[in-house]
Amino acid sequence: MLTFAKDLVRPLYRSLILERRLPDVDPKQFVNHGSKQVKNLPEPVLRLKAEFPWPDKKPRARLDPEGWFADEVKVNALIDLLGPSTKTIMELGSWLGTSTRLMLNSAVNAVVIAIDHWQGSVEHQENVYYKYKLPRLYDTFLVNCWDFRERLIPLKMDTMAGMKIVFERGIKPDLILVDADHSYAGVLRDIAVARTYFPDAMIVGDDFHWNELDHYPVKKAVEQYARGHNLRVEIRGNFWRLHEEKVD
Ligand SMILES: C[S@@+](CC[C@H](N)C(=O)[O-])C[C@H]1O[C@@H](n2cnc3c(N)ncnc32)[C@H](O)[C@@H]1O
Repeated sequence: MLTFAKDLVRPLYRSLILERRLPDVDPKQFVNHGSKQVKNLPEPVLRLKAEFPWPDKKPRARLDPEGWFADEVKVNALIDLLGPSTKTIMELGSWLGTSTRLMLNSAVNAVVIAIDHWQGSVEHQENVYYKYKLPRLYDTFLVNCWDFRERLIPLKMDTMAGMKIVFERGIKPDLILVDADHSYAGVLRDIAVARTYFPDAMIVGDDFHWNELDHYPVKKAVEQYARGHNLRVEIRGNFWRLHEEKVD
């Protein structure tokens, strides 16, 4: 009886409450303004692309523009670092692809390798609004980014496994955006592994001032890593960047 009631209420709740909360969709956000296809891709990137192909058919999911790369300061901080000469970007944590598409449209000749297990982070899994999106998160990401598929390689896995694959294939990203697990240990681990595998990449990230209640875990991890390696942290809003120049 209880199960029957739940089965009845859940779809009603979804369609009446949650679906209504989806923002209006501006289709322009989903258009690839850069190269449709990149010529002369480095051999290792071509091999990775063949190894992790897109599905032949577009999945069935609604476009969903939700994402965390919207405010001007953060967007400008990121796009200032990208341009026509950017070749390879690695993104740790893509969600529904807002930041992915922003980078692809700002680096018009680049390939983005998007690493995400598309299970959501703890804060999404515990939140009723985000939780309801999780079963279709990956399909929605694919639909949102469908126009970019020639320049986008999704690796559906944990960041550790994804970075290892990218490293083992001999790929050298120009820029790495760290925006996956926001726990102190998770951020520290992502930065440390990214810097070990890809010492020449620019390492940047989001959510520096995130989660006051939990004592700013992202800030703590970034600052701790920088201190331990004698690096400088640049902050623009919630955007952070590690600078290789040493601090005295
Ligand atoms: C804050 S969201 C990314 C937001 C996205 N960059 C944007 O700006 O819209 C964090 C993402 O990281 C992913 N994630 C969290 N922990 C992860 C892990 N250990 N490995 C892979 N993905 C992870 C989640 O599935 C989620 O999609």
